[in-house]
Amino acid sequence: MKLSEKAEFNRIINEIKSDSKSMKMKDFIQHGRVTTYDHCIRVAAISFWIAKKLKLNCNLDSLVKGAFLHDYYLYDWHDYKGAKLHGFHHPEVAMRNAFRDFGLTKKEANIIKSHMWPLTLRSVPASKEAVLVCIADKISSTKETLTER
Ligand SMILES: [Fe+2]
Ligand SMILES: [Fe+2]
Repeated sequence: MKLSEKAEFNRIINEIKSDSKSMKMKDFIQHGRVTTYDHCIRVAAISFWIAKKLKLNCNLDSLVKGAFLHDYYLYDWHDYKGAKLHGFHHPEVAMRNAFRDFGLTKKEANIIKSHMWPLTLRSVPASKEAVLVCIADKISSTKETLTER
């Protein structure tokens, strides 16, 4: 990322990333050794980077906020009744938590709710921003699972 883009990204994410409620994501492991908090920052950075690279006309505030909160489900999914169900259920849980704690626009809610698509068949990404987060999450999860155990 260019220096100016990095500064823009930090300006957008700083407030929400230092909120004490967001810090709760540090208590949970996402993949390998990576916490949910770090995973969410990565997904936000990758989404932002692709948007810039492809010069997409995006709402960058919503992109970064939706990406950062996409896994704001706040429980250890390794303990979740049937880890398989976690894949289907957590986008909805994350969306409700994020709405309760931070407020969300319609677009931001859809970014979170549709990020597991096509696993969650009926929650389809409805904007460029949602498509980016859906892709960035898959890139990031794959990398974390393969290389950071
Ligand atoms: Fe997720
Ligand atoms: Fe994720």
